[in-house]
Amino acid sequence: MMASSISNSVSSFAAVAVALISCASLVLGSVEYSPEQEVKALLESGWWSPEYLNSTTTTSCKLPGITCNRAGSITRISIHKFFIYGTELGKFLNGSSFPNLVHLDLAAAELFGSIPPEIGTLSKLTYLDLSHNYLLGELPLSLGNLSQLVVLDISFNQISGQLPLSITSLTHLMEFDASSNAINGSIPIHIGKLKNLQFLIMPGNRLDGPLPSSLGQLTKLTTLSLYSNYIAGSIPSEIGKMTSLDHLDLHDNMLMGQLPPTLGQLTNLSELYLDSNQIIGSIPPSIAKLVYLVHLNLGANMFHGPLPPEIGNLTSLETLVLDENQLTGAVPSAICDLTNLQYLSLSRNQLSGSLPSRIGNLKNLTRLKLSSNNLMGTITPSLGSLKSIQYIDLSSNHFNGSIPIEICSLSTLLSLDLSNNSLVGEIPSRFADLEDLTTINLADNNFNCCIPCSFMYHRTTLHADTYLYDYVPCSKIWSGGIDKGGLIIVCISIILASSFLVLIIWVMFFKRGCKNKKIKSLDETIATKNGDIFSVWNYDGNLAYKDIIQATEDFDIRYCIGTGGYGSVYRAQLPNGKVVALKKLHTSEVEEPALRKSFENEVKTLTELKHRNIVRLYGFCLHKRCMFLIYQYMERGSLFCVLNNDVEAMELDWKKRVNIIKGIVNALCYLHNDCTPPIVHRDVTTNNVLLDSELEAVVADFGTAKLLDPNSTTQTTILAGTYGYIAPELAYTIAVTVKCDVYSFGVVTLETLMGKHPKEILSSLSSSSTQNLKLIEILDQRLAPPRSRLAVHNVALVASIAFACLNADPKLRPTMDSVSKQIVKLRTPLADHCFHEITIGHLMNP
Ligand SMILES: *[C@@H]1O[C@H](CO)[C@@H](O)[C@H](O)[C@H]1NC(C)=O
Ligand SMILES: *[C@@H]1O[C@H](CO)[C@@H](O)[C@H](O)[C@H]1NC(C)=O
Ligand SMILES: *[C@@H]1O[C@H](CO)[C@@H](O)[C@H](O)[C@H]1NC(C)=O
Ligand SMILES: *[C@@H]1O[C@H](CO)[C@@H](O)[C@H](O)[C@H]1NC(C)=O
Ligand SMILES: *[C@@H]1O[C@H](CO)[C@@H](O)[C@H](O)[C@H]1NC(C)=O
Ligand SMILES: *[C@@H]1O[C@H](CO)[C@@H](O)[C@H](O)[C@H]1NC(C)=O
Ligand SMILES: *[C@@H]1O[C@H](CO)[C@@H](O)[C@H](O)[C@H]1NC(C)=O
Ligand SMILES: *[C@@H]1O[C@H](CO)[C@@H](O)[C@H](O)[C@H]1NC(C)=O
Ligand SMILES: *[C@@H]1O[C@H](CO)[C@@H](O)[C@H](O)[C@H]1NC(C)=O
Repeated sequence: MMASSISNSVSSFAAVAVALISCASLVLGSVEYSPEQEVKALLESGWWSPEYLNSTTTTSCKLPGITCNRAGSITRISIHKFFIYGTELGKFLNGSSFPNLVHLDLAAAELFGSIPPEIGTLSKLTYLDLSHNYLLGELPLSLGNLSQLVVLDISFNQISGQLPLSITSLTHLMEFDASSNAINGSIPIHIGKLKNLQFLIMPGNRLDGPLPSSLGQLTKLTTLSLYSNYIAGSIPSEIGKMTSLDHLDLHDNMLMGQLPPTLGQLTNLSELYLDSNQIIGSIPPSIAKLVYLVHLNLGANMFHGPLPPEIGNLTSLETLVLDENQLTGAVPSAICDLTNLQYLSLSRNQLSGSLPSRIGNLKNLTRLKLSSNNLMGTITPSLGSLKSIQYIDLSSNHFNGSIPIEICSLSTLLSLDLSNNSLVGEIPSRFADLEDLTTINLADNNFNCCIPCSFMYHRTTLHADTYLYDYVPCSKIWSGGIDKGGLIIVCISIILASSFLVLIIWVMFFKRGCKNKKIKSLDETIATKNGDIFSVWNYDGNLAYKDIIQATEDFDIRYCIGTGGYGSVYRAQLPNGKVVALKKLHTSEVEEPALRKSFENEVKTLTELKHRNIVRLYGFCLHKRCMFLIYQYMERGSLFCVLNNDVEAMELDWKKRVNIIKGIVNALCYLHNDCTPPIVHRDVTTNNVLLDSELEAVVADFGTAKLLDPNSTTQTTILAGTYGYIAPELAYTIAVTVKCDVYSFGVVTLETLMGKHPKEILSSLSSSSTQNLKLIEILDQRLAPPRSRLAVHNVALVASIAFACLNADPKLRPTMDSVSKQIVKLRTPLADHCFHEITIGHLMNP
């Protein structure tokens, strides 16, 4: 009875409501509604307990996330993750419960079940966001009743079946996002009826069939994103009528045929991605009309013929990727006019001729990939003008002549691949000056021989962490100058017989010292007072032993806030009000030489370190009977404890977790790169990462830290560290390198994302069942999955870094410096995957 009275009132107001797009009920007054029905529906949601609903007395309008009109009927519902338990959407919407609802935002609200036909009764709805839930089943036909709908977002669910044809009646629709579902069938041929559409976003579904020509009627569309589907057929020439298009992404489909010349009419395009299709024909010169293009990717198609010189008109281009086609002819010199270009890839075509000599114009270029073509002639010295270049790959061409010395002035270069060419002459010794260069591949050329001695000498003496690949006997390359005193200069990989040379160098290089301070010896820093009292107070200049004793009432148990592997930690409030932490050895432990040594080591290391992500040591007492260290007090204790407390772990959302990881990166980067000599912490664990009241991280506990001796290539020592965090190579070698910390950092990072130690994953990294695990399955389940674009990006990036750091081969782990660079990068290597689909395998091989 109730239901029929509502549907009557709906139809009587329908005529008026149609004209209005949003907030209709706020302005017009309310459609008749039943408060009992609305409250009943809210009860069905399970989001609030019945007691709570009752306690808000007469109105449900005061509930969080609920907005009502003046008549007290619900107009907006905006529920996200403030409720832990999900609800079945069908139950919630059962019965025509919300006749005045305009705005329904249930993104990431843990919804399950299917979208019920009752959704069609929400006839005033203008905004419907059901994204990032667990919805299944097909879209109901009644969706077409929501004639006022402006925004429809069902992205990131598991919705299947075809798009209902009725969707074409949503003529007010401006935004439709169905990314990452399982929608199949073809795009409705009458899609062109949605004349107000500005965003049509359906990547990562199972759409097939052709692109309907009615798309041409969508003249307001700015974004058309249909990548990673099975769309076939050729691109209709009507596409040229979508003149508002700014972003067109059809990559990873099965498009065929030639590009229509009308593409040149889309003059507002800034991004065009058609890569990974089967498009044939030549690249139309009309593409040069798209003068606002910033990103152009036509890679992995079957384009043939020459690259039109008109491409030089696209002066806004930052990305030009045409690799894996069948392009022939020369690289047009006009390409050198694209001065904003950052990424140029023409690899795996059949381009011939020589490198344009003006290529040095591309001052902003960071990546240049021309491998696997038929390019020939000498490598132009103008490459030396690429002031931003990081990656050069000219491998598998026919370049001859020698390596131009100018390459040695590319100070930003990280990777150089000139393998499989016909290069001759000497390898310039000035490569040694390129501090950032971590990978060089010069294999399969005709070099005279010889890695220059200066090159080797620099790397091995200055930097403790030098690795060279493929060690082979090197009698012919270099016979002089090996220092007997233990410079174990590793032989370089050169097999001259087959003119094969592989040289990949991982370098850990030093830059500035710790603000130009060398780590001083303990004796220089520490004053000796009163005979054997071995203490320096550098906290406010006037910290005194008696203050500490008073503040802790002579180390009374009441002030104890924790007990570690050895010693106890106390909280002490000093007379000036400041709070510090004290780590004190137990009386019996003071007698242990190893523990004393560890304390002294910590003092020695920490007194000279000053970094916001490294715990501050304010003072210490190294006395026969009483040994303690005084640190900055970290209110929230260790990361380990926070992760193991459900309440605190929930407070640590994705943003905070990523921030903590960044803090650890900064700290390790400082220890490894900014200190001379570098310092290896050797015990990076979640227990040794402490958090302050703002949940900023500092790295603590330098008891086992080690200065790397710059005069030795291998650093040997007894095994130190914590089980579960120790790099696997320490099982068979005693060489300590910064890469041991990198491994532990990987464990800590993964633990931070998972909320618990990743022991099962670490022990089965190579198994396919582990690699098939989804990232989203291993993330800390106490938090809702990351939702914002930024959080998704950051979590995926940090996870991929973690797996890179966990590589069993220390040579293949990144340095903290490169981790730090990656963390500030804008795009993850996984950007092309939908977050829900990223597996550990993807993360291990991004
Ligand atoms: C809510 O309140 C009504 C009347 O005030 C009462 O009849 C009903 O049992 C209450 N429900 C719950 C779940 O407390
Ligand atoms: C909706 O309500 C009807 C009757 O009240 C019931 O039979 C049906 O199971 C409900 N549907 C869902 C999905 O809860
Ligand atoms: C909604 O759509 C369905 C199916 O298209 C139709 O039968 C029904 O009459 C429409 N109207 C309402 C108010 O549900
Ligand atoms: C679409 O998927 C549904 C189930 O998910 C299936 O029953 C149907 O046959 C599929 N249709 C097409 C055209 O592939
Ligand atoms: C192209 O973009 C500009 C600026 O963004 C805009 O003013 C103009 O209306 C657009 N042209 C078309 C045809 O949409
Ligand atoms: C390229 O730009 C030049 C002038 O810079 C112009 O004359 C030419 O027509 C443009 N080519 C195309 C195809 O737009
Ligand atoms: C190149 O990069 C710099 C800064 O990185 C930027 O200011 C400039 O606009 C870019 N473009 C050109 C053509 O230099
Ligand atoms: C070397 O280059 C030639 C063509 O120049 C190619 O056929 C061959 O596969 C390449 N070899 C390797 C190892 O890449
Ligand atoms: C490089 O090869 C070109 C033709 O492929 C030849 O004309 C030229 O003399 C060669 N240069 C050197 C330095 O070998």
